[in-house]
Amino acid sequence: MPAKLVIGNWKMNTRSQSAEALLAALLRDASTNNDQVAIAAPAVYLQRLFAQLQDGAIRLAAQDVSRYAADGAYTGELSAEMLADCGCTYVLVGHSERRQYFAETDAALLSKVCNVMAAGMVPVFCVGETLAQREQGGYLEVIHQQLALLTDIPEGGCVVAYEPVWAIGTGKVASLDQVAEIHDAIKIWCLQNVNASANIRVLYGGSVKADNAAPILATKNVDGVLVGGASLDAEIFKVICQAAGISI
Ligand code: PGA
Repeated sequence: MPAKLVIGNWKMNTRSQSAEALLAALLRDASTNNDQVAIAAPAVYLQRLFAQLQDGAIRLAAQDVSRYAADGAYTGELSAEMLADCGCTYVLVGHSERRQYFAETDAALLSKVCNVMAAGMVPVFCVGETLAQREQGGYLEVIHQQLALLTDIPEGGCVVAYEPVWAIGTGKVASLDQVAEIHDAIKIWCLQNVNASANIRVLYGGSVKADNAAPILATKNVDGVLVGGASLDAEIFKVICQAAGISI
């Protein structure tokens, strides 16, 4: 079985103490130098969490990045180089919550993906349809449209996360057939359209929990999972990692 990747997305949760405690609980039994597990922590805590990591037992991810690459007058922004400097390995780009609340455009998302890669990190590019789009039946076109900007990225490591919007934080999980259909479609599209697409791993996200992770992870073309709510409980997150064959 190829190595899986499990990323926990803490979103806008935790405080410095609870973030450190959560990471400490994850690290308690972690084997060293494990590049299969990452935590997308709030940006303000990345640096202190990086100091807490030993031997790369868990990797760090950022939840967003500036579309602007160079230092300059962009108040409030965090560049890809700053995030790399704080120890990040991965950066989420185009999460549906950012698309929904911050009206991110494809042009901005393409800049973000390229900035992340140029700074030596791996973008985790999120795609997914809304409930209305699924019910109207045009969901594959929606996914293909969202993927389209990847045709312009340079060669290098990239992760795609399929997260149906209707499954995020709702407790509704896509069926295994639905997951398999979209993951197949994403893999085929990437092979046909993206440079060095053999490197592209495709994660599933949306209400992944301890009790549904194993069958999702066993589905063809699922290279890992992106976990929101369930990543805020160390014991539950560990069960999900174990379902991916990762001893943590
Ligand atoms: P969820 O979130 O697991 O809480 O549904 C997933 C995500 O938004 O990445």
